[in-house]
Amino acid sequence: MMTANQPLKVAVLVSGNGSNLQAIVDRIEAGEINARISCVVSNNPNAYALARAAKHGISTVILEKRLYGKRSEYDTALVEILKNHDIELVVLAGFMQILTDVMVDAFPYAIMNIHPALLPAFPGLNAQKQALDYGVRFSGCTVHFVDHGTDTGPIILQAVVPVMQDDTVDVLSKRIQKEEHRVFPEAIRLFAEGKISIKNRQVLIEY
Ligand code: GRF
Repeated sequence: MMTANQPLKVAVLVSGNGSNLQAIVDRIEAGEINARISCVVSNNPNAYALARAAKHGISTVILEKRLYGKRSEYDTALVEILKNHDIELVVLAGFMQILTDVMVDAFPYAIMNIHPALLPAFPGLNAQKQALDYGVRFSGCTVHFVDHGTDTGPIILQAVVPVMQDDTVDVLSKRIQKEEHRVFPEAIRLFAEGKISIKNRQVLIEY
């Protein structure tokens, strides 16, 4: 008898609303991704994402930055939590804190981030505003592996949306988020199915 592969053990790191977390949970619960979210970690005790996790019976950890001196000390504690859960993939879903080498080296090519622009354009904070201010006709979102830079890691998937002349940051963000909720779970599905490999900095996907 064939036995199915064990579900991929995933941790999702959040700071806020958690709409991406929700999209991922929904696809897992629908049986479309062979993964299990072992824990949700938030650096913000008030993040709505925590309530979303609890509603789905996912264990949550609050790890506040203010309790740690240096960011590397925070990351050491974070790595310990994630290793205790045997995490195989770390998903940054609106986690508003830059990771140090401690985290990046502990999970090589096993940390994914979603960025609300078409990288390498508009990295860093306020990507949607950067895109509007620049006057681009198209923007979108990028799922990428996290490396030692800020939003510089190998690109897994991207989705494009048009930018309208009368867009506000809010309107553009909502249009981009609709795509985030589609491509982020998709990237996790591909990872869980072992369909992603990396050659130099190019991500190869087996379709
Ligand atoms: C998303 O727009 C994502 O691109 C950015 O942070 C936001 C998180 O939103 N990295 P949510 O908490 O998943 O709703």
